[in-house]
Amino acid sequence: NDSKSSNIVWHEGTVSRKHREMLNHHRGFTVWFTGLSGSGKSTLSVALEERLYSMGCRTYRLDGDNVRTGLNRDLAFSPEDRIENIRRIGEVAKLFRDAGIINLTAFISPYRQDRDMARNLSERGDDDFIEVYVDAPLEVCEQRDPKGLYKKARAGSIPNFTGISAPYEAPADPEIHVRTGDTSIADGVTQIVRYLCTKGYIE
Ligand code: PPS
Repeated sequence: NDSKSSNIVWHEGTVSRKHREMLNHHRGFTVWFTGLSGSGKSTLSVALEERLYSMGCRTYRLDGDNVRTGLNRDLAFSPEDRIENIRRIGEVAKLFRDAGIINLTAFISPYRQDRDMARNLSERGDDDFIEVYVDAPLEVCEQRDPKGLYKKARAGSIPNFTGISAPYEAPADPEIHVRTGDTSIADGVTQIVRYLCTKGYIE
């Protein structure tokens, strides 16, 4: 506890996460997508959410561009701002887990340390947090360039662009590794759903 929060006392409710999970018929957990811009994080998370919804799961998706226009609109792309971006998302993901909801987060989250920080907020340890490395080679992302950002970054008009002028630290040991350079979105979703079923997250 730092001094700002030293006089705060946690107020426990009577309806617990376990109750909410029972009502939802599944656990609350986080599927954390990480990867370069244009690697397919958003597309994959949207498709996964659609599949989970059709299976009767309660889901909520948090996405870079969306969160950055609201909750995190005060943040840009310096290392400090990215750290704060991921710290807040980690906390929001934790709230969704506590709500008994499956939350899918799609952020570049370029620093290993920050992803681990988000993971370590998990009350149930690793069980709550499934890291998906959305892996497409930089050349592929740059060729796709869905928003034209790589072109701008190469031209020097976007500073600190991940993969060009800012680092991306690939996960060393992600729960799931989807190679979106040569895997279709449908196959990527199937790969993730299989993992979730095998590990007993969903039925
Ligand atoms: S981070 O690194 O996790 O804080 O980034 P994130 O919140 O996911 O936001 C990434 C999206 O912001 C756009 N954008 C940039 N990305 C990387 N570097 C720089 N400098 C930058 N400026 C804007 C870009 O559209 C990213 O979207 P995605 O969906 O990843 O392509």
